[in-house]
Amino acid sequence: MIKKSILILVGSGHKDSCSYKIGKNIVDYFDDELFDIQLIDIAQLDLRECLGCEYCKAHQGICIIKDAMTEIYQEIAQSDILIFISPVYFSNIPAMLKKLIDRCQLFYNLRDKSSIKRKQFLGIHLGGAPEYKDQFTAFKNTYNVLLPDIKAEMKGIIQITDTDKKDPLLDNHLKKEIKLNLEQLIA
Ligand SMILES: Cc1cc2nc3c(=O)[nH]c(=O)nc-3n(C[C@H](O)[C@H](O)[C@H](O)COP(=O)(O)O)c2cc1C
Repeated sequence: MIKKSILILVGSGHKDSCSYKIGKNIVDYFDDELFDIQLIDIAQLDLRECLGCEYCKAHQGICIIKDAMTEIYQEIAQSDILIFISPVYFSNIPAMLKKLIDRCQLFYNLRDKSSIKRKQFLGIHLGGAPEYKDQFTAFKNTYNVLLPDIKAEMKGIIQITDTDKKDPLLDNHLKKEIKLNLEQLIA
């Protein structure tokens, strides 16, 4: 049987982040007999910023920069399920995750997208402050533009607030919400 491929990208700036711990719990949730699952902590990768050089437009699917993104492009293209887990920084996307997203200009510039698998997408985002207006709007705006380029369908965004006071890993209501979203991803 062909295993479904799940790619989880963690966009927190620090090691052993809450985002990463949530990612590890998600890995444990999936049966590895059925799923090929990868958890990648983006901050630990050596990723350079998109140069906006349009090399990938002229050389369809090839980025001029040779770094960890070369493999991530393949992982994104071949995944059936893609999950981003990340905190919000200054009501925005943390720089390390934004760097990876900007490098997806390669997919935007790809005219023949037949090599990219259709996939389901879930975003899980953490904010230290109690809920406020537009706390996670930057993620939603970015996903509206990014997801069509990587042939991903938005299945949900989980917004976790007040994490500076409450440990999300001890929140049973949140555990249920994540489980429900994961069930919907593989349904
Ligand atoms: C540089 C920086 C900026 C932050 N900006 C915000 C913010 O604008 N809004 C918010 O709710 N929390 C903000 N936070 C708090 C983090 O989102 C929160 O602590 C989160 O739980 C960290 O998750 P992690 O452990 O996965 O890194 C900020 C934290 C840092 C380090």
